[in-house]
Amino acid sequence: MSKIGSNLTWHSNNLSRKERHASLGYTGATIWFTGLSGSGKSSIASATEKLIVTSGRPSYLLDGDNLRLGLNEDLNFSAKDRHENVRRVAEVARLFADAGLVALVPLISPYREDRENAREIHDQFGLRFFEVFVDTPIEVCEERDPKGLYKKARSGEIKGFTGIDDPYEMPNDPDLILTPENGLPEDGAKLVLQLLEMSV
Ligand code: ADX
Repeated sequence: MSKIGSNLTWHSNNLSRKERHASLGYTGATIWFTGLSGSGKSSIASATEKLIVTSGRPSYLLDGDNLRLGLNEDLNFSAKDRHENVRRVAEVARLFADAGLVALVPLISPYREDRENAREIHDQFGLRFFEVFVDTPIEVCEERDPKGLYKKARSGEIKGFTGIDDPYEMPNDPDLILTPENGLPEDGAKLVLQLLEMSV
């Protein structure tokens, strides 16, 4: 809320979040999946969305790649634009969580400070935020290379690729760590769901 104060005033809804969530029967939250490209973030987030929605709860996947085709189409992969990408998605997730949904956000989000800021954006509004580190070694991601991007990064066709010639800062204290040993995306999703249920 840093920009509020000059010529802008925060407008509070007549309907409180408590009333909205009580009517829905659910409280919103954001689950943030961070990890390298090809680590499995989107697959786990997608499996989580399916588990949550089929259990009758509202949830929505805010996929980094998809958002970069719309809301964030003006952003590239410079450090400045990655900061802005993470900030915008965190704000959108916060709105979804406020509305009572479980927002699922698979985003590389390579910088620790940006992810901490995403958490802060939620904390300020009293909304739950969980950081899930999809900890797949780069060798495995590169071997998978589902989009052929590691190959392009190695050949120099793509510059500034996360994990190759751009940094990835591991979380210090994530709420959950998932590795390939956790099994299929559906298995990881079950652990994510436990995290959500434990915190209610
Ligand atoms: S982030 O760094 O700003 O969080 P985001 O998750 O939105 O990244 O987008 C990552 C996706 O963009 C990757 O999965 C990959 O498909 C694609 N991509 C294209 N160029 C790059 C790059 N230089 N570094 C990382 N991912 C890239």
